Amino acid sequence: MEPRQTLTLAVTKGRILAEALPLLARIGIRPAEEIEASRKLVFDTSLPGLRLLVLRGSDVPTYVQFGAADLGIAGKDMLMEHGGDDCYYEPVNLGIARCRLMTAAPLGAEPKAGRLRIATKYVNVARRYYAAQGRQVDIIKLYGAMELAPVMGLADEIVDIVDTGSTLTANHLEARELIAWISSRLIVNKGALKTKYALIQPLIDHLRQTPEPVQ
Ligand code: PRP
Repeated sequence: MEPRQTLTLAVTKGRILAEALPLLARIGIRPAEEIEASRKLVFDTSLPGLRLLVLRGSDVPTYVQFGAADLGIAGKDMLMEHGGDDCYYEPVNLGIARCRLMTAAPLGAEPKAGRLRIATKYVNVARRYYAAQGRQVDIIKLYGAMELAPVMGLADEIVDIVDTGSTLTANHLEARELIAWISSRLIVNKGALKTKYALIQPLIDHLRQTPEPVQ
């Protein structure tokens, strides 16, 4: 008898996980224990053979790209930055964790002529965006607290996620240009979809039918 196939779903921790769990629950997938109360990174679920991995957003597409996870739930911002989409499909826009990826600058600052310094963790997205605008920039990679960079004179602008806008306001910055509307997506390793089609396709179909998704 063939061993039963298993499935691994990598989910971005934090707000995406919090919004993904009710979606997963609606299609009958519940973690076997409370994720927030645990230091574990791998969780069994109510669906036999399906495990959840809880990862940083930037690592979700990497796990799915290399097939270490069959499926992933990640923000479109992370997928745009990762750029490894030849290895995975993006079949469902889950419509959760919506926000905007934007440029921001000090409140009221005149647009600077010449070369700009841009602080961001989205270095690939920023490079592509400013190049498409024909603007010369130096990109400075940061891992968090991007809003501090213009305040401290490290950068002229930042590229970051804006949700309510309160982080920008609290740091005397303002949103300038919209780079992309962001929401979380289901991604699926291309090889896994072939070899585990009978397990994965029903999950895709069910997630497409939950009330939230935006096609
Ligand atoms: C994100 C982003 C901003 C903030 C924007 O950070 O980097 O700092 O949310 O939200 P707002 O517009 O509602 O103020 P997050 O808290 O997700 O942490 P991170 O820095 O680890 O991304």
